[in-house]
Parts: sequence; structure tokens; C-alpha cells
Amino acid sequence: MESHGHSTNAPISVRVMRRDNPDATPRYEVFQIPHRQNMNVHMCLLEIQENPVTVEGTKTTPVAWDVNCLEEVCGSCTMIINGRARQACSTLVDTLEKPITIEPMTKFTVLRDLQVDRSRMFEDLKKTKSWVPIDGTHALGAGPRYAQDDQLVSYTLSRCMTCGCCVEACPQYGPGSAFIGPAVLSQVRRFNMHPTGKLNKGERLETVMGSGGITDCGSAQVCASVCPKEIPLLDSIAVVARDTTIHALTSWFGK
Ligand code: SF4
Ligand code: SF4
Ligand code: FES
Repeated sequence: MESHGHSTNAPISVRVMRRDNPDATPRYEVFQIPHRQNMNVHMCLLEIQENPVTVEGTKTTPVAWDVNCLEEVCGSCTMIINGRARQACSTLVDTLEKPITIEPMTKFTVLRDLQVDRSRMFEDLKKTKSWVPIDGTHALGAGPRYAQDDQLVSYTLSRCMTCGCCVEACPQYGPGSAFIGPAVLSQVRRFNMHPTGKLNKGERLETVMGSGGITDCGSAQVCASVCPKEIPLLDSIAVVARDTTIHALTSWFGK
């Protein structure tokens, strides 16, 4: 018996927002692609890459998008699929309404087609020193111990893949605002509770007390509901808000 493992269903219609460079006016192109079993959106884009011909039969350029881990860990394939920010590698075609509409995220500069520049999030992680300082590159042995409860919270927070779904949904985040957004605030919480990361806690809090920091959060609360990793962003925002208040008071009285 012959089995090609594909074409079990009707072809799929995919509408892709195209843009050749950051300043180009976006346009849509529609493609008809064969259905394959367990197909995800990333595979749809691969089909188009192999045969970049629109439904009208016009030859076009292959669609550009970012991809890396293919297992919902790196966040690089995040795009707007049928109106919702999610990962192309983990979104299954069979769960989506057709035609499938694929667009780039709206809060970052679009470089080309579905590729966006998420470096702002990484810059904000740097600004808030969202890392654990180590002295040199030699092995330091086991670090200080975490309380078990803290360890669980920290693990949950560490699952953030800087995908940007939360900032896409956040009404306070965007090109016109300096707000660092919920993902970075959550990493501030994470590194502030780390036994070694704590050493920079004051500095981190002072950064998020400034413009673009915690007070820019308007508490719209949509960020937490869209996070694919179910990171408790509202708890993180509450913890950082409380800590900044305490820090402000203690520095005031400490003067
Ligand atoms: S907090 Fe969630 S939605 Fe936001 S960047 Fe991290 S993983 Fe993505
Ligand atoms: S609570 Fe609202 S304003 Fe604050 S970070 Fe989340 S979505 Fe943005
Ligand atoms: S490729 Fe890494 S999350 Fe999709």
C-alpha cells in the first residue's frame, strides 16, 4: 500500500501580509497549499517557500519569517495568526478557521513580511540587569540554596521565551511609549528573588521606578491571559509594585 502521509483533506487557503521592507506599504497575498497531517503554521510557510505562487498563479517571493527551536521555547516564530499572537511552530492548522490569516506582530518594527525586530525587549532586559552576576568564567560550584516555594515560582517565571505575546496585547506598550512591559517586569521579580540576583535588587527597582517603568502599567490585565507559558504576570507586576514602594520609602527614610 502506498502512503504519502499527506493530502488527507482539502487544500488550505492562507492569506499572508507581505511587506518588502520596514517602510513598504503592506499587501496581502493568498496561497493555496496542500493539507498535510499534523501540519502547523510553520509548515504552511515552508510550503509557500517551496512554491511561492499565489492563488491567482502569480509568481512571488518566498515569505520571510523567523524560526529557531520548533518547540515553543525560543519565541522567534511568534506572529499574528487569525488575529491572535501565537507561535507558528506550535499552532496546528486543523485547529484554525480557514482561510488562515497570518500577519506580523504590531508592536515591533516589521523588518520584512512576518519578521519583526524584538530587540527592544532584550534591551529592556539589559537595562533592568535581568541576569545573575557571576564573577569571572570559572565554575563556582553549587550556588546558594533557594527556599522550595521560591524555586517553584522562579521556575515558572524562567519559562518566559521573550515571545512578545503579552506586549502585543498590552494597551500601554508600543512604539509611542517607553513602557518596558509585563515580561521584563516579571524577570525583574525573578532575578530579585534569586539568592545572588538579589544583590542588584535595589538597582533593578530604581530602574523600574523611572519613566517607562511599573507606574506605566494601566492594570488592563490582558497580558496574563495571552501568555502561552501561563506566566503569572499580574502577580509579578504586583510584587514589583510593592517592592518599589517599599524601596522608595526605605530610601526616603534612610536619607
Ligand atoms: S511573559 Fe509570556 S507572553 Fe510575555 S514574553 Fe514571556 S512567554 Fe511571551
Ligand atoms: S496589566 Fe495591563 S497595562 Fe499592565 S502590563 Fe499587563 S496588559 Fe499591560
Ligand atoms: S520556533 Fe521557537 S517558539 Fe517557534
